[in-house]
Parts: sequence; structure tokens; C-alpha cells
Amino acid sequence: MAAGSQITRVLSGMRPTGRLHLGHLHGVLKNWIELQHSYECLFFVADWHALTTHYDEPEIIEENVWDMVIDWLACGVNPGSAKLFIQSRVPEHAELHLLLSMITPLGWLERVPTYKDQQEQLRERDLATYGFLGYPLLQSADILVYKAAYVPVGEDQVAHVELTREVARRFNHLYGREPGFEEKAERAIAKMGKKNARLYRELRRQYQEQGDEKALEVARALLESQQNISIGDRERLYGYLEGAGRIILPEPQALLTKAARMPGLDGQKMSKSYGNTIALREDPGEVEKKLRTMPTDPARVRRTDPGDPEKCPVWRWHQIYSDEATRQWVQQGCTTAGIGCLDCKRPLIEAVLAELKPIRERAREYEEDPAAVRAIINEGTEAARDIARDTMDEVRKAMGLAYR
Ligand code: TRP
Ligand code: SF4
Repeated sequence: MAAGSQITRVLSGMRPTGRLHLGHLHGVLKNWIELQHSYECLFFVADWHALTTHYDEPEIIEENVWDMVIDWLACGVNPGSAKLFIQSRVPEHAELHLLLSMITPLGWLERVPTYKDQQEQLRERDLATYGFLGYPLLQSADILVYKAAYVPVGEDQVAHVELTREVARRFNHLYGREPGFEEKAERAIAKMGKKNARLYRELRRQYQEQGDEKALEVARALLESQQNISIGDRERLYGYLEGAGRIILPEPQALLTKAARMPGLDGQKMSKSYGNTIALREDPGEVEKKLRTMPTDPARVRRTDPGDPEKCPVWRWHQIYSDEATRQWVQQGCTTAGIGCLDCKRPLIEAVLAELKPIRERAREYEEDPAAVRAIINEGTEAARDIARDTMDEVRKAMGLAYR
């Protein structure tokens, strides 16, 4: 648990790129759906982030936003457990982004690997903008405004969570030093009683002198269990543990998606820009056609030629969709030319169609009831704003902006 946050909160966002595909389902959404049972989850549509690269196409954003939310819901993201909202409806993200921009060295942003990579990949767009440079800092604000402990992301986003940690550390360092901090912390320690105070000091020493992470964890658990100290004192003691001041913005951790990366129809990563996707709401006839025509081991020209599953994208799909018995049947049948490629694809086609059917049906229900989708988002946005407002009150106070 991150220091200072009472509930373990998970936050993630997705840019509104339109209808989602199997790559999103297996790479992201299944993970969200699992997390929503165990944590307080916030999932949002990063529409401002979409504008950082597609600022000249405002007309596509709205449709993409609703299509994406419908896909989330259709896959089983549950608004009863997770809060779903839209970034631009919570202006606190923008205010925190602005305030964090005051303390963020330019070099930190220029060095984020996605900055140069994306500029090169999207050469046809002019991304020499202020907003694009600030992309990862806006993401930091997204995360910190909710004091999220965990951020489920793909590998490409880990650097952004890393930046977020550095920005949080700098913020706490600059603004977590209230006057008389050490004296207040010492007085708070005394309130825990002799035995616990001694234990806290010992653990703090172990962490500060030897970097003992275990000691840090135990000390945090000790603080959590204290009944006699106020919330303010507890926060102070979390901060005092690490030697800094009070922790106002806790550092989040990336939660790497462990799900298998979904290969596209051609075996490359599934991505709209490669044209190798199956959309979640794709027509069943189209799904079948795409799978029937997907490439196989190129060396297997005739039905009588044996094949090598390791060289075949279809095999990678079996690893996601098929049980052990089916996989053995594939291995055996392919390498001995006992089965044809169409036979091999049959169980996959069935599995994908069966997976997509309930999703397509639920999506249709939401398509037919846009008011329900809006109500879900309204409710999620209100709940998110309540948290974000509280954080901003603290942030403004810490930065000397609390005058009225
Ligand atoms: N940059 C993320 C992506 O492209 C989307 C995103 C924006 C995000 N803000 C976030 C993800 C905050 C996690 C947390 O996938
Ligand atoms: Fe690929 Fe299956 Fe054909 Fe072998 S039999 S080449 S695994 S599709």
C-alpha cells in the first residue's frame, strides 16, 4: 500500500481510439475486470491525451469516446465496482497538470523515451507542441490527483509512471516541509506509546541507514494499526519514515499487465495501424472470414506438407484460446500433415465467436440506450471529482494558494 492513502486505489486510462479489438480485451480489459474485484478502481477515457496528437481532428473524438465506453461495459467492466469517467469532465486534472508543470524540469520530459519515438513514428503530424511534450506530465496529474497506488499499464507506459514517481517525490520534497515538521513528527511518535515508539524508531533507522524495504513495510503496517494518532500525525509519520517531509502525493507503482500479448492475424502485435485486428463488435461472418484467411506457416504450401506451429501465427492463437488436448492435437496434426490448416483453425473460430457473442449482445443493448451509458459516466465522474477536489485542496494549501 502506498504511504498515506487509506484505500488501495487503482487507476488507468485509455485514449479514445474508437472501437476496441481483441488486443484490448486480452491485453487490458481482462486485467481491469479482475482488478475491479479487489481494489477501488478508477478507469477513464483520456480524451485530452487524444488531443495532444490528434488536435486537428476534433470531430472524431466524441464518437470514439462513447464507442470505447460501450466496449468497456460490454466486456464486463462493472460500473457497480469501478468508477468510469472522462478526463475532460474533471478539470482538476488540468489544474494539477499546470501546477506540476511549475516544478518539472524540461529535461525530464525531453528524456521520456516516448517523446522522440512518437514524434518519429507520427512524422506526418506536427508534434513539436507544448501539449505533446507535456503528455506524460498530464498523465502524472491523472494519477496523482487520485493518489493512486497502482497503475495497470503496458510496458510502453512504464516510463510515464516512473516520471510520475519522480514528480511526486519532488513535489513532496518541495511542499511537504511544514514548519516544525520534525518536532511534530517526534511528538506524534510519542503518542504511540513506549513500545510502538521504540519499534517505529528502530524500523525507521533500518530503512534510512540500510535501505531496508522490509522495515519500511513493517513500519507502515505499524502506523496503519495505530488507533491513538490523528490522520494528520499518521501522514506525518509516513513521511518521516522516508526522511522527507509529509507525503502529500504518494508515489504510484506500475502494475505490468501480465496477460499474454495478443498477436494480430499476421502474428505481429495486434494493432489498428497494422490492419491485423478483430474488433470486439465485428460481425461474426467477418470474424470467420478473417480467421479462415489468416496466414499460416508459409512453408506449408500443400495440404500434404507437414508444418511447424512455431512458425505459424495460428499456433499463437491456440496458446491463448485452446486447452491442452487441442494444442496437442494441433502439434501432432500439423507436424505430420495429419490435419489441414482449415481444420486447425476450426476450434479457434468457434472459440473466438463464442467469446465475442455475449460482448456483441451487451454492446447492442448499450448502443440502444445511450442515456444509460451517459448516466454511468455522470455518476463515475461525480465520484472521481470528489476525490480529485480533496487532493486539490491539499495541493493548493501546500503550494501557498489557499487564500480566499
Ligand atoms: N498514455 C496512456 C496510453 O496511451 C493513457 C493514459 C493517460 C493513462 N493517462 C493515464 C494510463 C493514466 C494510465 C494512467 O495508454
Ligand atoms: Fe498453422 Fe495449424 Fe496450419 Fe500448422 S496446421 S501451419 S499450426 S494453421
